Amino acid sequence: MSRLLFVKSSVFGEGGQSSKLADRLIQRWRAQTPEVEVITRDLVSQPIAHFDMTAITALSTPAADQTPVQKEIVALSDQLIAEVQDADAIIIAAPMYNFAVPSQLKAWFDQIARNGVTFRYTENGPEGLLKDKPVYILATRGGMYHDAGLDYQVPWLKLILGFVGLKNVHVIMAEGLNMSDADKSIAEAQQAIDSIVFN
Ligand SMILES: Cc1cc2nc3c(=O)[nH]c(=O)nc-3n(C[C@H](O)[C@H](O)[C@H](O)COP(=O)(O)O)c2cc1C
Repeated sequence: MSRLLFVKSSVFGEGGQSSKLADRLIQRWRAQTPEVEVITRDLVSQPIAHFDMTAITALSTPAADQTPVQKEIVALSDQLIAEVQDADAIIIAAPMYNFAVPSQLKAWFDQIARNGVTFRYTENGPEGLLKDKPVYILATRGGMYHDAGLDYQVPWLKLILGFVGLKNVHVIMAEGLNMSDADKSIAEAQQAIDSIVFN
């Protein structure tokens, strides 16, 4: 039995290119492991609030002293982290919006990166506390950024995932989706998905 956490963040929902590529990857996984359980965290249909002082206060208040609203905030944060901890692999559908990830996906990471739970500071610097597991990123973008030094989407995703201990990151990229060669880019990404060997 394996459990996949599917995190999706395209505002186009099912029609998003990153969502479609992720669906293909999940279908391949199902073909290999029919009993796989897929937990979907849809950050657009179920948006997570921006991280703010209310959240900071809730997370730093002892459980016995929390108000009902604070308990709700902590419960959601705990649930989001548990979904990551309990997964055998994570699939992140991540379009590029304004050179970076969608704000919905940033809000999710703001909940996942929790001091003392998923990372901690040591004398030697920060240490990720999550057990490493494969993370597949389906990265889509309208333009071409590969090697242009303007990509704040994929390098940032690798940085924040590594920060919490997830270093086994695989990126499937579809670039130039608003350009003339979009079909070729999609076909190449589909081919890359079809050649993944799941362990
Ligand atoms: C709000 C918004 C901002 C975007 N910003 C960029 C950008 O900075 N660079 C880029 O190459 N494409 C940009 N795009 C195009 C998307 O990256 C492209 O359409 C991609 O396929 C979206 O993936 P999705 O279909 O999974 O949402 C933007 C699209 C939207 C809706």
